[in-house]
Amino acid sequence: MCQPAMREASLTEQENSAEAELDEILDGLSRPQKTLSPKFFYDARGSILFDAICELPEYYLTRTELSIMQMTIDEITTLVGPQASLIEFGSGSSLKTRMLLEKLDRLAAYVPVDISREHLLSAAESLAADYPAVEVLPLLADFMQPFELPNPNVMPLRNIVYFPGSTIGNYSPEQAHSLLQVMHVEAGKDGALLIGVDLQKDTAIIERAYNDKAGVTAEFNLNMLSRINHDFGANFDLNLFRHSAIYNDEYGRVELNLISECEQTVLIGGRSIHFDTGEALLTEHSHKYTLEQFSGMADRAGFVVHKVWTDPEQLFSIQYCLRV
Ligand code: AVI
Repeated sequence: MCQPAMREASLTEQENSAEAELDEILDGLSRPQKTLSPKFFYDARGSILFDAICELPEYYLTRTELSIMQMTIDEITTLVGPQASLIEFGSGSSLKTRMLLEKLDRLAAYVPVDISREHLLSAAESLAADYPAVEVLPLLADFMQPFELPNPNVMPLRNIVYFPGSTIGNYSPEQAHSLLQVMHVEAGKDGALLIGVDLQKDTAIIERAYNDKAGVTAEFNLNMLSRINHDFGANFDLNLFRHSAIYNDEYGRVELNLISECEQTVLIGGRSIHFDTGEALLTEHSHKYTLEQFSGMADRAGFVVHKVWTDPEQLFSIQYCLRV
């Protein structure tokens, strides 16, 4: 039997303790604009709901990115060249990652980087089993800070940082800048960045993607409260909050909120959190960029956009950025 080419690479303990996360939640709920980090979406149920979102007819992002990949994979393969190391920020076992593992020429290694041990190891194990020729080196780390890359058995000729899905949009422009700077460090000399970026477009198309008819996005958004109830002993009543997703034209972003349907008090970590009727609890921003805006951001972080591929309707883009 084939032994999957995988070993746990520097599994440094950077996972947040439950206590630190509770402090973070309480801090967010104590601000004038109540906020919870989108990272709290992704418990087991949240991850299943997110996968369901990706299949929704209204959610154009995933299928459009995949169709662009299918059209351009040969070009990407030529640009990347042989014996690269593919460093994915986040651990994906998606079709897009699989396409790269299959098509890139003699990959030196695949290094998924994630702060969640569970996601990281399950995705890495399944990829290592399916692509035994590729050395899979999962790295448990918070990719907002520079990290030390593992040493593959085969010396990579260059590093390709991969960040699909327009996850860059879930960071504020300032955070996105810091993240691109980390990517610049990890790409190293002669390295490159392959990134999926959702584009600005007609507001109605964007808002439909976050207000699907089947109500899956609403369930995903509300699931954050059940997760906090379950993991942090809070008593949010899910019937007393409703999902809201509105595109803010000024900031070029979708704003996901949970709106309190009445005046109420929620208990968490020994604290009482008061909500007014109609008060919004911010759960996520999803920024959409113009090609010019993203090119400027890449530029400020030391990358030059070398090639951009979009779909015919210019809904989504995949960008190949060279490190300068
Ligand atoms: C993960 N991220 C790119 C998604 C987005 O579109 O911003 C998260 C999401 N939130 C609601 N629907 C999808």
